[in-house]
Amino acid sequence: MSSAQQVRPGRFITLEGIDGAGKSTHLTFIADWLKRHDVDAVFTREPGGTPLGEQIRELLLAPATVASLDAETLLAFAARQQHIADVIAPALAAGRWLVSDRFTDSTYAFQGGGRGVPYERIRALEDWVQRGLQPDLTLLFDLPTEVAAGRMAGTRVPDRFEQEAADFHRRVRAAYLRRAEEASQRIVVLDAGRSIDDIQADIAVHLGKLLERG
Ligand code: TMP
Repeated sequence: MSSAQQVRPGRFITLEGIDGAGKSTHLTFIADWLKRHDVDAVFTREPGGTPLGEQIRELLLAPATVASLDAETLLAFAARQQHIADVIAPALAAGRWLVSDRFTDSTYAFQGGGRGVPYERIRALEDWVQRGLQPDLTLLFDLPTEVAAGRMAGTRVPDRFEQEAADFHRRVRAAYLRRAEEASQRIVVLDAGRSIDDIQADIAVHLGKLLERG
């Protein structure tokens, strides 16, 4: 680690969006941008990011899995607790930046908005597991659900969430947009229907602001 990196505190960035909003496309751009700016970053994902988390991910995404709403929510937070303890907290404590493909806004959107788990219940688990830890910046890739479904069609075998009905995805999107209003200082809504260049120009502006915050 260079001395320039040592003086920079860690930053926590999360990427969010409905399935098919294209967030993975932008991960490579974010990795390149951070490298060019000499930022030491860790890339990870949820559910997942640890051996236990990846096992939980398999359970959550397997179409054959039958889980109650609460069991599904608790599994997401069990994976998250392990992820924070083993990966996120140590990286931030070491002054590294950490980029997670999904985090708790996904639980509010999918289990809260999509499935109807009461927000207070998710908030209680968030308080328990995160103890105040929140991302510094969340990039929310927003797209009409029909456009996202069209992009995904035929490209992969749908997982347990992707195979949900159109209404589910509409509720997930609405819940994300509600989260963005509630946490507007942290969540940036990016119109993911634009060209990749336009979206990435916006991402660069937000990463630049975060870097300047020092
Ligand atoms: P991904 O491949 O985009 O990361 O997909 C993970 C899926 O898991 C996605 O459909 C959203 C879902 N999910 C939840 O339902 N709750 C959560 O807390 C997280 C992190 C993901």
